[in-house]
Amino acid sequence: MSANLKAYNIFDLRELALKRVPRGVFEFMDRGTEDEVSLRNNRAVFDRMRFRTRTFVDVSKRNQDTTIFGVRHKMPLVIAPTGTAGLLWYEGELALARAARAAGIPFTLATGSMTAMERVADEAGGELWFQLYLWPDRSFSHELVERAKAAGYKALFVTVDGVSAGNREYNIRNGFTIPFTFSTRNVVDMVTHPRWLLGVMLRYLVTTGMPMYANYPAAAKAKLTAGPMGRSSLRTDAINWGDLDALRKIWPHKLIVKGILDPQDAATAVDHGAEGICVSNHGGRNLDGVVSPIEVLPEIVDAVGKRATVFADSGFRRGTDVVKALALGAHAVMIGRSTLYGVAAGGEAGAARALEIYREEISRVLALLGCCGIADLGPQYLQFADPHLRPATLPRPGPRPVAGTKAVA
Ligand SMILES: Cc1cc2nc3c(=O)[nH]c(=O)nc-3n(C[C@H](O)[C@H](O)[C@H](O)COP(=O)(O)O)c2cc1C
Repeated sequence: MSANLKAYNIFDLRELALKRVPRGVFEFMDRGTEDEVSLRNNRAVFDRMRFRTRTFVDVSKRNQDTTIFGVRHKMPLVIAPTGTAGLLWYEGELALARAARAAGIPFTLATGSMTAMERVADEAGGELWFQLYLWPDRSFSHELVERAKAAGYKALFVTVDGVSAGNREYNIRNGFTIPFTFSTRNVVDMVTHPRWLLGVMLRYLVTTGMPMYANYPAAAKAKLTAGPMGRSSLRTDAINWGDLDALRKIWPHKLIVKGILDPQDAATAVDHGAEGICVSNHGGRNLDGVVSPIEVLPEIVDAVGKRATVFADSGFRRGTDVVKALALGAHAVMIGRSTLYGVAAGGEAGAARALEIYREEISRVLALLGCCGIADLGPQYLQFADPHLRPATLPRPGPRPVAGTKAVA
């Protein structure tokens, strides 16, 4: 077990993170929005699906290799973009990217990271993807695209579910802002978490200064005033499909739209040149009461699964969750908080532990299901306590298409 972390599952890592980082930072990472209905449903939805197992299957040579966009990876997982990961651990984005590389999976760097994209590319390497927000001044966003291209990022995730920032009241209550502003409440919070204060905040202060969004172009930084985290004034509520066309023109590699929950939107995005769809409700952090990605995944897979790579995220904490989404037709799963808990608990070793937990859990689930590999998963392994989740076409003939092969282009 890495780093002597006493963590047997992702929830244990969450407990370790809770002890280590100030409450304000922890809540920013952990919580949802408003009454957290979607946050809870993202977990509850997995309980409404049961496995159907097969037996007398030789699963001794099972593996989790997953081909995404023609590249073979070691697990069906991708680390999702999470802004301000660098607040959980000193240069937390580097820690996450290194852990992803060691585990043989892609890492997605968020626009709002505290480590510049060029440094992550130089110092961590591996299969790197970049996440983009569309800002009111599109030239800021396009500047980031050019930098991501130059730095060697292989895929661009444009996030479209945050056109207005979620209503995260706890951030206001906790007085948590970026750039940082000090209040009695958050100073007490920091002082009572000395490992974080010394290992993260003071380390930044004596090296690069107050942690900031490192990727923001200078002009965007100048416009930034301290606001509650998650309420960046730079998000835009005026986007249209022409924005996707514009990105398609300037981005030569894989283009994925993140935050899709409607099959028609998924189909339109693919018509406009997207090669991937990330079915996501932003981990329950933006619109409270919105459906869980799992509840719409079958429809979206039916709409675009043969011509695009379908990712799913939001609420995944167990290998069983991952296998359920793959059996519903997702080609890979993106994880946000799971590796954040790890990095907050123990930096790169903590993130590595989170991935190791998933690897062990997924392997065990495959064995117990009687399934040899990711490409063999399908709805025949599921029983739907909730008929709504039942895919339209059941059972699907033969093995499902593998992401990145010609079948899904
Ligand atoms: C602390 C935090 C910051 C996030 N920042 C971003 C971001 O900057 N861009 C983005 O597209 N998604 C962001 N997300 C959403 C994740 O990419 C992902 O959709 C979500 O975390 C998945 O749910 P999970 O945390 O339950 O795994 C963030 C999530 C968290 C928890």
